[in-house]
Amino acid sequence: MNVRPTSLLPALFPTIVPPEPFLDEADLQRELGTLPAAPVVWQVRSLDSTNRCLLEWAPQGLPRYFCLAARQQTAGRGRQGRAWVSDPEGSLTFSLWSVFDRSLQELSGLPLVVSLGVLEALHSLGITTVGVKWPNDLWREGRKVAGVLVETTRLSSGQVGAVIGIGLNVALPPAVQEAFSLSLNDLRDEAGQAPARGTVLGRLLNTLIPLLESFAQSGFSPFAETWMTHCVHRNRSVTLRHPDQTLSQGECIGLSPLGGLILRNPAGDSQTYHGGELSLRWEGT
Ligand code: BTN
Repeated sequence: MNVRPTSLLPALFPTIVPPEPFLDEADLQRELGTLPAAPVVWQVRSLDSTNRCLLEWAPQGLPRYFCLAARQQTAGRGRQGRAWVSDPEGSLTFSLWSVFDRSLQELSGLPLVVSLGVLEALHSLGITTVGVKWPNDLWREGRKVAGVLVETTRLSSGQVGAVIGIGLNVALPPAVQEAFSLSLNDLRDEAGQAPARGTVLGRLLNTLIPLLESFAQSGFSPFAETWMTHCVHRNRSVTLRHPDQTLSQGECIGLSPLGGLILRNPAGDSQTYHGGELSLRWEGT
């Protein structure tokens, strides 16, 4: 199995910073060993954003499931135009390239499948207190532990290329913990131990790639029920803030076949939504 960049890739990407592995090779190999075709994992010291780079490189032709992991991002991108803050020693930031024969509308469920894959990988590593928050956050004990940003590009073949960006807090250093203690969590256990980042990345790829294959075949609907069983807001009263800042309130009761959020309002009517930010609705508000 080959998890190192092949000799072709430097020729394909002449302008990038040279590969500089920062993850334990044996950890990665162990996890990737059970996949039928191992992805190429390209590790670099620092760049602006792994998502931005893959979107830039995509027209040159990327191998399917090419993974770009950066020890440090200087302009990490989050959802809705926000920045993604990470730590060179305590975070995992990477993007995975994939290609789909599906419409952009059908791909709206992809970020949810990815969040489910991250959850399943973390559960399999024994980190079972992680749940999903619609549409694609991972939460642990009320705080965010990982985020997913999928960006798509139409290919000349007519297919859609998807850059699946994942930022995961593995073991945040004390300064970051203090600054974000109310909003961020990481993977450490009560003794302060977290799995090695090479193991985590390998397990994530090992879990995600079969789910992506299944999504490519069958779309989102087969995942909807499982996703809801891990939803931190399931059957709770929530407020959805739309991109135009208006609010919708209701009980979080399910997902549509494309991954939209179904809310039931106090009058008992259900409505499906496809964007926005979700928060718990406090009693009396
Ligand atoms: C979110 O806002 O929750 C999504 C965050 C996604 C961050 C990851 S880190 C790797 C990849 N590269 C980026 O610039 N962003 C994504």
